[in-house]
Amino acid sequence: MTKIFPNWQPKNSELFSKHIVKEQHSLHQHELFTDDALAKLIEKTPRSNYHVNTHDLVNIHKSTWRDGEFGDLSGKQVLQAVRDGHIWINIQKPWEADPAYGEVLDQMFEEFEANVSDFSTFHDKNKMTILISSPKIKVFYHCDIPGQALWQIRGRKRVYIYPNTAPFLKNEEMEQIILGRIDEHDITYQDWYDDYAEIIDLEPGVMSHWPINGPHRIENLGVMNVSITTEHWNKDLRNHYAVRYANGLLRDSFGFKDLRTPTSGLGLYARLALAGFHKVSGLRNLKKMKYHVDFQVDPSQELGFKDIESYELSK
Ligand SMILES: [Fe+2]
Repeated sequence: MTKIFPNWQPKNSELFSKHIVKEQHSLHQHELFTDDALAKLIEKTPRSNYHVNTHDLVNIHKSTWRDGEFGDLSGKQVLQAVRDGHIWINIQKPWEADPAYGEVLDQMFEEFEANVSDFSTFHDKNKMTILISSPKIKVFYHCDIPGQALWQIRGRKRVYIYPNTAPFLKNEEMEQIILGRIDEHDITYQDWYDDYAEIIDLEPGVMSHWPINGPHRIENLGVMNVSITTEHWNKDLRNHYAVRYANGLLRDSFGFKDLRTPTSGLGLYARLALAGFHKVSGLRNLKKMKYHVDFQVDPSQELGFKDIESYELSK
């Protein structure tokens, strides 16, 4: 079996989860990520497991983000529309369409865990999402809740990664996301934050991982991109999550300020109890969200899609 990390750098074993790391991987050469394989995957993916989006080319803001559908196009036609147009595809749970993706996901985490001592994830919570995006697509400033890594397969993208502390990530806003009251993209962003960002250009065969919740934004560098994101949970991340969940409750319901974020001792256990393990053990089962679908992918159009009459989709 080909190793996913053929040349793991020992320094990354020490840096992992504490600082930004970059590591070489081999998945850009894997048969599951060729255009043919991705076209087949697109055709096998049920409506409930994908999103296709676009954003305005000039007014690049979350408010211009739109949801669409593939219609009855072939996988190859969808990829053509991504290559020439302005859309972003996100394929979730690819293992449901083809179990071979699940085997790769398992191997990714087995190799992480073999390379980083004391890193052990809840295997049934590990996830992989495949992102296929047009040359000028941008992903707005946001933070993710689980541990996350970004793996580049094709194309080039620039990733701006910001410190996971205030003012770049405010405790109050983090708590609101965890309580499900705001979206990951609703956190405050100001242009000057960029002076404090670490900027990484991802090339095929490079993976990056950064400290938990680190805000980031992404720009494709003029070519179609294929990337993978992975998500993971472990005991430390679950505790981190529970503490913020409990602090959110304390702040909202009891008006507490200046809340600590303990990682051990009574403060941690009190918060674990307050968060209620039953809530945390589900690790934020995403609420059912409603989407307004108002375009259909169409490779004959300049932007790769055409407007359709809007309808509501909940998933
Ligand atoms: Fe993200």
